[in-house]
Amino acid sequence: MKKKIKPRLIIHGGAGSGKGNQKVRFERIRSICKRVQKKLIAGGSALESVVLAVRLMEDSPLFNAGYGSKLQIDGKVRCTACLMDGETERFAAVVNVTRYKNPILIVRNLVEQEHRVLGSKGAEKFARSMGIKPSNTIHPDQLRIWKQRQKGSHGTVGAVAMDSAGHLAAASSTGGIGNEMVGRIGDNCSPAACFCTSKVGVAVTGMGEKITDTALASRIGIRIIDGMNPKQALKQSFLDLEKIGGEAGAICITRSGKISARFNTQTMIWAASEIPIWI
Ligand code: GLY
Repeated sequence: MKKKIKPRLIIHGGAGSGKGNQKVRFERIRSICKRVQKKLIAGGSALESVVLAVRLMEDSPLFNAGYGSKLQIDGKVRCTACLMDGETERFAAVVNVTRYKNPILIVRNLVEQEHRVLGSKGAEKFARSMGIKPSNTIHPDQLRIWKQRQKGSHGTVGAVAMDSAGHLAAASSTGGIGNEMVGRIGDNCSPAACFCTSKVGVAVTGMGEKITDTALASRIGIRIIDGMNPKQALKQSFLDLEKIGGEAGAICITRSGKISARFNTQTMIWAASEIPIWI
C-alpha cells in the first residue's frame, strides 16, 4: 500500500517591533513560500528547499539577511548563516561573511565537509574554492540607516521543511542587529539558531545573545524529541527565555507533520504550507 507523505514548509522573515513596511514583507514571504512549495511538490529535498527559501530572502532587501543586512558600527556588513540537515544530523555555519550576499549557499557546500563552521576569511576562501562569486552586500537603505546610527528591530530569516521522503531540514541567516560591536556574532553560528534531527526541525529569530544563553532552537527540539507536544515545548522554552528577558520567534515541523510557530515580540513575519501528495 502506498504511504501518504505530506511535505511541509514554514518560513519566517524575522520577529521584531513591527516597524517598517510589514504588508510588503508579508506578501514577499508568501510568494517565496509558494515558490519553494512548488519545489517540494516536484520532489525537491528538504535541504534544498530550506536553502532556496533562505537564499530568496537573502536576495531581498526587505529582510535582515544577505543583501538586506544591517551594518555593524564600522559600516561593514557581516552575515552569519547556518543550516542543519535532519537526515545526516549535521550542522554547518559561516560567520561574519562580508562579500557574499548568499552565505547560505556557502553553508550548503560546507555541510558536506569535515570542518563545518568557518569564520570570515576562511569562509570566503572556501566560497571561492566552491566557485561562488563575491557580491555587494551593502544595500543603500541599510547604509542610510547606519549613517543615522539607528539600530532597527532585530531579525533573521529562517526556514524548516519536511520533504516527501519524510526528511527534515532547518536553516537560518542574519545580518545581526545593526550598529553592533565590530565582529559581534549572534546565535546563528550554533544550533541555538537552528536545530534538526530525523524527528524535528526548528529555526528561531530574535535577540541573539539570549537565544544563545537558552540554546533556544535546540531546547525546543529536544523537548519535542523527549515527547512533549510542540505547542507545549514552545511555550515552556519561551517561558525559559522570558525569565532572562529574551525576545524571539520560532518555527518548527515535527516528523508527524505538525507545523508550529510562536513569538513574544510584537510581530513575526511568517508563512507556511501543507502539500498533500501521494508517493
Ligand atoms: N538572531 C540574530 C542575531 O542576534 O544576530
